[in-house]
Amino acid sequence: MVNFSVSEHVARMKGSSTLLAAQAATELRAQGVDVIDLSVGEPDFDTPQFIKDYAVEGLSKGLTKYTATAGLADFRSAIGEFYAHQFDAELAVSEIAAACGGKQALFNAACCLLDPGDDVLIPKPFWVTFPEIVTFCRANSIFIETEDSDFILTADQVADSITDKTKLLIINSPNNPTGRVVPADEMRRIVEVCADRNVYVLTDECYLFFAYPPSRPFSLACLPPDLRRYVCVAGSFSKTYAMTGWRAGYTIANEDWTKAMVKLQSHSATHPTSFVQYACARALRDTEATLAAVRSMTAEYERRRNWLIPALNEISGFRCAMPEGAFYAFVDVREMLGNEFRTSADVANKLLSEAHIVVTDGEGFGADGFLRISYATSLDNLNRAVNAMKELFGTN
Ligand SMILES: Cc1ncc(COP(=O)(O)O)c(C=O)c1O
Repeated sequence: MVNFSVSEHVARMKGSSTLLAAQAATELRAQGVDVIDLSVGEPDFDTPQFIKDYAVEGLSKGLTKYTATAGLADFRSAIGEFYAHQFDAELAVSEIAAACGGKQALFNAACCLLDPGDDVLIPKPFWVTFPEIVTFCRANSIFIETEDSDFILTADQVADSITDKTKLLIINSPNNPTGRVVPADEMRRIVEVCADRNVYVLTDECYLFFAYPPSRPFSLACLPPDLRRYVCVAGSFSKTYAMTGWRAGYTIANEDWTKAMVKLQSHSATHPTSFVQYACARALRDTEATLAAVRSMTAEYERRRNWLIPALNEISGFRCAMPEGAFYAFVDVREMLGNEFRTSADVANKLLSEAHIVVTDGEGFGADGFLRISYATSLDNLNRAVNAMKELFGTN
C-alpha cells in the first residue's frame, strides 16, 4: 500500500490545541465521568428563536439554491446598514462579502494578500489559527510581545516591529485568549502606523460585541476611507449571536481585496448556506430584537466574569487580571512552576486527571505559563470548578 503523503502546505500546519482540550473532555465524558468543561470557545446559549424562525422562513421561501459567491445582495447590504447604524461606518456593498464563518473570512483575506516570504506581525498571545494561516501561505509569523503593556497591543509596539518585509498585521480585540480590549483610539493609531508603512491590517472582530463597560464595541470598519483601505475586517455571527454551527461570517475590505476573496471563494466553499444568509440579513434588519439578544447574553457573561475573576485570584498560585471582553479568563500560573509542575500544561493535566476540569493550556497561544478558562458556561459550573480548584491547590 502506498503511504498517503500530505502536501507540504498542510504538513507544515499544526493541529488546533483548543480542539485537543475539547477532545479530552469528550473522551472523559464517554467514560461516564462528570466533566466540567472550561475549554469551550462557544456560547452556551442557544441561537435566539427569532433568528431560527427567519431561517425557516428562508427555507419556505425556497432559498435552497446557490447564491452569488459574494453572498445575497440583501445579506451584504444588511451588514452595511447594520454597521452604519452601530458604528457610523460608510460601506459600499462592493466592500462586503459573505464567508462561511470568521475562520474562512480570515483565510480568504490572508490567502489573497500574502506571498511566500512575506512577514506577518502577530501579537502574543494569539489565537491558535493565526500563525497556521500564515504558515499555509508560506509567509513568516513575526510575534510581538505584549506582556509589558498587560497584553494590550500598542501602536508603539507595532511601529517598532515593522520592517521592509512586513506585509500584514493580524489583530484580535476583544481578544482570545486574554480577554483584553485595545481601546478605540489606540486601534486607530495602530492602523495609522501600519498605513504609513504600507502594511495591511487584518482585524478579527469575532468578539466585537463582547466588550464590557467601560469598554465599548468598536469596529475598524468605521475608519475613514484613507485608513480603511489598508484594513480587512473578518466578521462572524458565531459568538455574537450564538450561531457557531450556522457558519456565517463576512469580510469588509477594499473593493480589490474583496474581489480577490470572492474569486478565491468561488473555487472553495462558494458561499455560506443560502437560507442562513437570509436569516442573518433579516436578523440584522430586526435591529432592536438582535441588539436586545446580544445585550442580554453580554450582561450574563459580564455577571459571570465579575464573579469568576476574584474567585480565581483566591486560588494559590493563580493570578488573573480582569478581562475587558470576550468570555475567557487568562490565568498566570507561573508562580506554581518549579517543583510539582514544570509547565502550565502540567497544571492543566492535574486539573483534568484529579478534578475532571478541562482548561486550555496557554502554550498553543504562545503563552506557556498561562491557562485559558472559558466562562461560556453556567455560574453553577464555574462555582463547582472553582471549589474543586481550591481544594486541589489551596487558597491564598
Ligand atoms: C479569535 C477567533 N476568531 C475566529 C474564530 C472563528 O469563529 P467562526 O469561524 O466560528 O466564525 C474564533 C473561534 O473560536 C475565535 O476565537
